[in-house]
Amino acid sequence: MTKGIFITFEGIEGSGKTTQVNLLAEKFKAEGFKVLKTFEPGDTLAGKKIREILLNSNVPINSLCELLLYFADRVQHVEEVIKPALKEGYIVICDRFTDSTLAYQGFGRGVSIDLIRNLNKMLLGDFMPDFTVLLDLQAEIGLKRNKDINKRDRFEMEDIKFHNKVREGYLQIASIEKERFLVIDAYRPPIEICEEVHRKISLIFGL
Ligand code: TMP
Repeated sequence: MTKGIFITFEGIEGSGKTTQVNLLAEKFKAEGFKVLKTFEPGDTLAGKKIREILLNSNVPINSLCELLLYFADRVQHVEEVIKPALKEGYIVICDRFTDSTLAYQGFGRGVSIDLIRNLNKMLLGDFMPDFTVLLDLQAEIGLKRNKDINKRDRFEMEDIKFHNKVREGYLQIASIEKERFLVIDAYRPPIEICEEVHRKISLIFGL
């Protein structure tokens, strides 16, 4: 491959994104592709610092500050990690990207969706994922899965209403961009989900 493929995974807390990123990466690696796994926020040196502020519920930040920090992380991440890997022909698999900002800051916090889309355009131009998998499940179940592993950051502290808005937001975003999105029922067994995602991506991109 001369130019790589940029794949993102999206979903609420506890939807199984990290598991799916790992499974898909292994599958493509086994087929001989160069694969880079990455995530947002926090997969650059600057991003690690930004992540500390973003997820620490003891640091008060307002919604716009939060929004700009997610974009600060993303701009650095795209230039430092994602674009160079794509140029070298990697399949880049990223845990969360701009759709998270639309879902959490837009639909969840109530920041203007137009503002987020305009900022994205100004900062990233036409750069966007080639393909996005949305792992969909009920917020109650996702949160319970996370509570079982004792995760309590800024977003795990939000109430169920917030997470329902995020879930609905994701579904709305996916319904607007049907070509880019694959919506998956995240209750299904992880291996089965991975098989379907892999099949679909291989078909679309002729791998
Ligand atoms: P993680 O738990 O998947 O590492 O993600 C960290 C949190 O950041 C998660 O609760 C979702 C949130 N988030 C946003 O609110 N907006 C964003 O743009 C991104 C990338 C993540």
